[in-house]
Amino acid sequence: MSENLQDILVHTEAGVTTLTFNRVEKKNSFTEVMYGAMADVLQAAAQDAGVRCVVIQGDATVFSAGNDIGDFLRQGQSAQPADMTERPVWRFLKAIASFPKPLVAAVCGPAVGVGTTLLLHCDLVYAGDNAAFALPFVNLGLCPEAASSLLLPRMFGMHRAAEALMLGEPFMAEAALEVGLVNRVVPPTECNALAQQQARKLAAKPLSSLMATKRLMKGAQTEQVLQVMLDESREFGRLMREPAAREAFGAFLEKRKPDFSGM
Ligand code: COA
Repeated sequence: MSENLQDILVHTEAGVTTLTFNRVEKKNSFTEVMYGAMADVLQAAAQDAGVRCVVIQGDATVFSAGNDIGDFLRQGQSAQPADMTERPVWRFLKAIASFPKPLVAAVCGPAVGVGTTLLLHCDLVYAGDNAAFALPFVNLGLCPEAASSLLLPRMFGMHRAAEALMLGEPFMAEAALEVGLVNRVVPPTECNALAQQQARKLAAKPLSSLMATKRLMKGAQTEQVLQVMLDESREFGRLMREPAAREAFGAFLEKRKPDFSGM
């Protein structure tokens, strides 16, 4: 079964739902519509007994450049202070953080911002050797989201997490493998196929056993993750309206370096 939501392609076969980002001309950056569509897919997959595993992927050149920066700019300019929990992004983050079935990701090329943080909520992550991860929240006048302020220090260790989250410099697939963000690094042209192969293996296993295993592995963490996501959202919503973020968004869209002097 296939569904075409334009920028998000959805295909279900042999118990595996594959969600493919399809906005390559904008480096698969996520619009509000895309977050809403992805949340719908995950919520439906959680309920559908025929779906036993979900794969999230881009193509061999790009995973995702994160949130659409034009959308950020518009949200930061809106008259009402942003209540992030009313936005589709919140529905998506909540759906992925509490998704009860196995989630597999295939990452090639840039994975920026939420393109990286969403991986913290996946069970298996495969990367092309061209994968470039980056968390440039501070460089955009923002702060971490998707519970990355909690999960990244746990996974990377505090100092490496600070390097990723405070300097915001990209790191490549091999470094991601070393810190445990990805399971395996392969040539980009093999990455989606490998994720599919692993998903098929999972789909052939007893689902209730897999779901119990995932629930037990996460333990009390899911509640904590949702609380941290809420705290992050408040800060994020506040920072989006401040001059530094407006300068950073404007600079990106005008293809110039931001000037944070005096901010
Ligand atoms: N939001 C909106 N548009 C984006 C985007 C984003 N997050 N990322 C890329 N695009 C657009 C570019 O503006 C460009 O559009 P144009 O062709 O109309 O000029 C197009 O996608 C191609 O991007 P480009 O920057 O030319 O590609 P690149 O290969 O040189 O670099 C990235 C790829 C991902 C490294 C770079 O686009 C980037 O840094 N994007 C911003 C990432 C970001 O800060 N995201 C927010 C995280 S919180």
